[in-house]
Amino acid sequence: MHPTLNIAVKAALRAGKIINRASLDIGQLKVSTKQQSDFVTEVDKAAEAAIIDTLRETYPKHAILAEESGRSGQEDSEYQWIIDPLDGTTNFIHGFPQYAVSIAMAHKGVLAHAVVYDPGRNELFTASKGAGAFLNDKRIRVSKRVKLDEALIGTGFPYRMFDHVDAYIDIFKELTRRTAGIRRPGAASLDLAYVASGRLDGFWEFGLSPWDMAAGALLISEAGGLVSDLAGEPSYLTTGNIVCGTPKVFAQLLQVIAPHRKGKLAA
Ligand code: IPD
Ligand code: CA
Ligand code: CA
Repeated sequence: MHPTLNIAVKAALRAGKIINRASLDIGQLKVSTKQQSDFVTEVDKAAEAAIIDTLRETYPKHAILAEESGRSGQEDSEYQWIIDPLDGTTNFIHGFPQYAVSIAMAHKGVLAHAVVYDPGRNELFTASKGAGAFLNDKRIRVSKRVKLDEALIGTGFPYRMFDHVDAYIDIFKELTRRTAGIRRPGAASLDLAYVASGRLDGFWEFGLSPWDMAAGALLISEAGGLVSDLAGEPSYLTTGNIVCGTPKVFAQLLQVIAPHRKGKLAA
């Protein structure tokens, strides 16, 4: 394992311990609301602090973009860590066992290392650019599925910003008819890890943040899948809109979405 990925794994496992400990007594959680349907707990904050402390021991100057504490470190560093300490907070608060720690590192703007860790199931998804993607040390690949009507597709419902809800529902309706099924598990980073490991054949969501997508996107490309924005271009980390899947399923998802691309959904 690349030494940088090893540090990222160490950080994710530390965060995972904090999350698992807290999951034993969710009745005790103090929950605050950042904005409508956007929750944060002291667990999100403690997990993020543990991740950043771990990374800082080895990389004191790297830039960091983390969901709860924002930007820190040397802004002009060639290296940037992109961190979601607890992806799926709403699930976590409800004891719904689908949440993860997501940590990615980009070098000169290109994703280089990725960890998505599901602490409840002890599933560790990792990837380094050019070195493949793994689940607990076993190589993973996207599924071999080629037909949309046989594909299981993941998504995230709009629940915070409702600007695109009509376009979303139209796409949802069409995909409900044209796929084998749609799932909305509630932690985008894990959804992407599931595409990388062949549990899902494709995924789409609008309005995500870079920390929801960065690690999962590298897992998918290292597992032989494709990831893009709604225009089929690589700017999903900036637009927040993502489509991905096995090469054939990805192409068909883009086709279904194409007629709905306008305004903020142009890319
Ligand atoms: C959320 C989850 C969810 C997605 C949201 C994200 P959070 O992250 O990934 O699946 O639909 O858009 O914000 O807030 O639980 O870290
Ligand atoms: Ca998230
Ligand atoms: Ca989060």
